[in-house]
Amino acid sequence: MIKYIEETAEYLQDKGFDAPEIGIILGTGLGQLIDEIEVLKQVSYNHIPNFPTATVEFHKGKLIYGNLAGKKVVVMQGRFHLYEGYTLQDITFPVRIMEKLGIKTLLVSNAAGAINLDYKKGELMLIDDHINLQGSSPLAFKGVEQLGERFTDMSAPYDKNINERFETIAKANNIKLHKGVYASVVGPQLETRAEYRMLKLIGADAVGMSTVPEIIVANHLKLKVAAVSVLTDECDPDNLEPINIEDIIASAAKAEPNMITLFKELIELL
Ligand code: HPA
Repeated sequence: MIKYIEETAEYLQDKGFDAPEIGIILGTGLGQLIDEIEVLKQVSYNHIPNFPTATVEFHKGKLIYGNLAGKKVVVMQGRFHLYEGYTLQDITFPVRIMEKLGIKTLLVSNAAGAINLDYKKGELMLIDDHINLQGSSPLAFKGVEQLGERFTDMSAPYDKNINERFETIAKANNIKLHKGVYASVVGPQLETRAEYRMLKLIGADAVGMSTVPEIIVANHLKLKVAAVSVLTDECDPDNLEPINIEDIIASAAKAEPNMITLFKELIELL
């Protein structure tokens, strides 16, 4: 893997991805942040050597380098999911590349279902901790100790200072920002009523199909990490309605301006 990381990082450095400070993974509900970035370089994922190649879903993902709120950033527009058939090592390869390019901080957004029924769709949740229910680890491979500690500490995977800043920014802008535990599942099917009950019992406030692998690898690389979920549906096992994708997209869109404010103001402060 070391050889692949070096090759890919060199390719991007040659393209002008020069010493970014912050990496951002744009998930659902943060896509428009791209309009705030002064884009200097961009490369399609399918042109980047050793990047995961499109499997189940055609990917029009891009890696973008530019300036945002006075900082040099590298941005993943589109991420890879386990449910698309990628491995956990594939999904997290871009995080290793962004670290090799120089980032010290990784910021992530995603869409999630609200398990905590005090949290409503269209609201945001700062991830304070997580539960990995994806069945394996992105660190479970031969040679991982050459890239960092095998037994990576996870006692505080999300950066306390960044989270405090997010909360201050939210307050100043009158944005409702919950805080809680994100559980990652494989998907792509949604959960059953019994699964939602289980998730509540084990302490999850939200559930989604991404983010945790990237967070684990970012911790392996000792990056500072923060992540925010946009809550797109309310997972009430006693009143569960069939999934409505239009409704989920509408909830994500509703939250997007707030998400953009949080990220932009945070990056200014970093
Ligand atoms: N479950 C899993 N992933 C999700 C959900 C959900 O209810 N909503 C958005 N992503």
